[in-house]
Amino acid sequence: MTKTESFQLEFEQHVQDGLTAFPKFLSSKYIYDDRGDQLFQQIMALPEYYLTNAEYNIIDQYKGELKSLFENQNGFDLIELGAGDGKKTKVLLEELVQNNVDFTYKPIDISQHAIDELTNSLTTLLPDLDVQGEQGTYFKVLEKIATYNKRPKVIIVLGSNIGNLSHKEAIDFLNQIQHSMSSEDLLFMGFDQKKNPLTIQNAYADKTGVTQEFNRNLLHRLNKEMNADFDVNSFEHWEAYDPESGTAKSYLLATQECDVHIKKLDLKIHFNKWETIHTEISQKYDDLIVEWLANESGLEINQIFEDNNKLFKDYLFKKK
Ligand SMILES: C[S@@+](CC[C@H](N)C(=O)[O-])C[C@H]1O[C@@H](n2cnc3c(N)ncnc32)[C@H](O)[C@@H]1O
Repeated sequence: MTKTESFQLEFEQHVQDGLTAFPKFLSSKYIYDDRGDQLFQQIMALPEYYLTNAEYNIIDQYKGELKSLFENQNGFDLIELGAGDGKKTKVLLEELVQNNVDFTYKPIDISQHAIDELTNSLTTLLPDLDVQGEQGTYFKVLEKIATYNKRPKVIIVLGSNIGNLSHKEAIDFLNQIQHSMSSEDLLFMGFDQKKNPLTIQNAYADKTGVTQEFNRNLLHRLNKEMNADFDVNSFEHWEAYDPESGTAKSYLLATQECDVHIKKLDLKIHFNKWETIHTEISQKYDDLIVEWLANESGLEINQIFEDNNKLFKDYLFKKK
């Protein structure tokens, strides 16, 4: 079975499980195809979506220090999990290339389109950079990374991607990263911070409706790839941030009772009016939670970097 076929089977199994569960769910990782990637780029440009500018500010401000922390006399592999369009990473890559640092950049993303676009854009921007992109999910790729301990590694995960995981899943994720690391390897990871709840609520429920289209892309994909007949416009985006748990949750909400047929899976699904499909969590953190997650995963925090507006933090971890 090819990698694409096994990915498609996994996706189909997820849809079968998620839409027959009560309450219904679908994972946001399946939002990202060509259209999903483009919609996420539009989200990053929204004034409400502060995360990108905040982390850009951190990387731009500390790129010299990060270069010194990452570079290694034996060279190193810079592995990025969930790289997306690499907008912020490019600032760091430019700094490393301009200073003749010996490294290979290995971006990994579930979206083949994201990997292709990023690799192509880097060919023009940094023609001397060695880029080895790969399509895959975090967990699958980490199993492989653990087996190639040839050069020192710096693993980076930007954009608070970890926030799409529950705390339990985040510990599994961090644990798996930790197992793939040797004592000199580093992990540099972004964690969006708890803040005014309204700022967070607005970041995931913009006025122009781009986030709604992004969330609805899951249903577009099911129509396109599994021959489903969702009336996509009758599902509305709903966002709810709970400041106590620090969890922002995204839903698709059926605004009318309907039956949907997913022909490829031979599956008929009924939706009651106002029934939900839970699609995404975006967890928010503070230092205590990150310390707890690190501790549970055999990691320790070495350094913390914060943006000028105190909205976002990147943490540098080592193996304990
Ligand atoms: C919120 S975007 C952030 C992109 C980038 N890290 C940034 O900071 O701009 C999340 C990215 O992770 C990818 N992604 C989501 N879930 C993934 C998974 N389980 N495995 C690999 N990539 C994943 C998506 O395709 C998307 O490009």
